[in-house]
Amino acid sequence: MTRSLANAELVIASHNQGKVREIGELLAPYGVEVVSAGFLGLPEPEETGATFVANAELKARAAAMAAGLPALADDSGLAVEALNGDPGIYSARWGGPGKDFDLAMRKVAEALGDHPNRRARFVCALAVAWPDGEIATFEGTVAGDIVWPPRGGQGFGYDPIFQPLGHTITFAEMAGDAKHQLSHRADAFRKLVAACFP
Ligand code: IMP
Repeated sequence: MTRSLANAELVIASHNQGKVREIGELLAPYGVEVVSAGFLGLPEPEETGATFVANAELKARAAAMAAGLPALADDSGLAVEALNGDPGIYSARWGGPGKDFDLAMRKVAEALGDHPNRRARFVCALAVAWPDGEIATFEGTVAGDIVWPPRGGQGFGYDPIFQPLGHTITFAEMAGDAKHQLSHRADAFRKLVAACFP
């Protein structure tokens, strides 16, 4: 049984503004007060885990310890089937030190070339850690195809080259609400909400 987060003050253990915004929107209906790790000036731990879940746990633990509050971390990325799951846990790093996602998207397109299998998944692992060491994790995914050239100006990261299955527009062409119905983050959040806001 996971501990409840109802009416809690929750640290969002991320320095990625796109993620902090989406997490704030997804948690808005549950009356939690969210504050970002960037706002609290918490350090960004090195992501040394071998999986999305391990990295989410490491970030949530570090923030919960530093802030003395429950903390939520998201580790996510794009896994392309024909690239054996790359960029995967290295999704942020494919943007280089400048976190340049035009560059990262071009790298994906170049690595895929004209490979007939365009299938990919976004994966999201969420970890909630409490300062006393309790931790809970939740994983979500969404399947789609890699398109080229990039399309749309909403969202962040690889959204302009990801077209979810059954749709004709990319995540970056969708209004925020539409992406929130479908996304890997929404899928993981549904599981988190069921466990943490009973
Ligand atoms: P990390 O979880 O902070 O290590 O970085 C995950 C990276 O995956 C982000 O910087 C984005 O490039 C990518 N990513 C994760 N979620 C999304 C999404 O919803 N849309 C587009 N890109 C995403």
